[in-house]
Amino acid sequence: MNWKSARARAIGLLTVGAVVALAGCGGSSSSTSGGSSGAAASSSGGGGGSKTITIGFAQVGSESGWRTANTQSIKAALTKEAGFDLKFADAQQKPENQIQAIRSFIAQKVDVIAFSPVVTTGWDSVLEEAKAAKIPVILTDRAVDVADKTLYKTFIGSDFVQEGKTAGEYVAKNFGSKPINVVELEGTTGSAPAIDRKKGFTEAIASNPNVKVVASQTGNFTRSEGKQVMEGLLQSQKQIDVLFAHNDDMALGAIEAIEAAGKKPGTDIKIVSIDGVKDGMTALSQGKINYIVECNPLLGPDLAGLAKKAVAGEAIDARIVTHDDAFDQAGATAALPNRKY
Ligand code: AHR
Repeated sequence: MNWKSARARAIGLLTVGAVVALAGCGGSSSSTSGGSSGAAASSSGGGGGSKTITIGFAQVGSESGWRTANTQSIKAALTKEAGFDLKFADAQQKPENQIQAIRSFIAQKVDVIAFSPVVTTGWDSVLEEAKAAKIPVILTDRAVDVADKTLYKTFIGSDFVQEGKTAGEYVAKNFGSKPINVVELEGTTGSAPAIDRKKGFTEAIASNPNVKVVASQTGNFTRSEGKQVMEGLLQSQKQIDVLFAHNDDMALGAIEAIEAAGKKPGTDIKIVSIDGVKDGMTALSQGKINYIVECNPLLGPDLAGLAKKAVAGEAIDARIVTHDDAFDQAGATAALPNRKY
């Protein structure tokens, strides 16, 4: 049984790296609310009499079911009742829109900025501006590649390299008893999940010389591009045995292309993907996908707690890794009735 049922379903917090004290830009002295008054001394939970915390959140976009669930989780947690005034910006998968949104949050003197960076690079200047304005920054879901790690307070999200590894190990172990051709649908070029999942997958399949990636293209994490790219791959590749998709939405798009080509997804072409959204889990339960590595999007409640800590000047772990499960068909069928996203 490959379903890692023993792993915790709820987001657990695993500390990696050093604990950093929130000196430097921990408070928000420029803010008219919250600020470094220490009012928000509680590490999580409701408003509890604290001053309202104004938080700017710059989201990637709405490219996938995962992203929709992530946005809903953030909006549901950062409510007025919980002590927040949320300023939410949708960057439509454009890093330049995110930079503009962050600059606008700085100009509005918010207490905390949180964002999930579209790509890993290009953030140094705007993060330096936030630091100069003494506004703490929290990264959610995706990492940035900056030389100065003090430009952000913490990064909470999944271990994407491990997700790719788990997917690769499954392919190597379950399909690699004979030579197989794998095609890979990559996420958004330059994004942390695309870079890291590819890395982890490549490392894991290296253990089995039968497993060969014959084509790898981006589908930008969307269903429509997943379908379109798979249509091309079905024409250009003589033999495809396995599809590794960096997210469920691209796998679901690819399933449409595979069915339109008269093949049976999950049987003629095995499929392994990442996320575990309801549509993906349903396809897994129906045998159209063979294995899904979860990426938990429900980061809102933890973000709320971290934002309160950051404003209160409390210590925060530099890296918080959320726990993910993995599902085979039986696991998906069992999990579906209680699946929240
Ligand atoms: O950053 C997380 C990834 O972004 C999800 O796996 C994908 O579905 C989303 O677009």
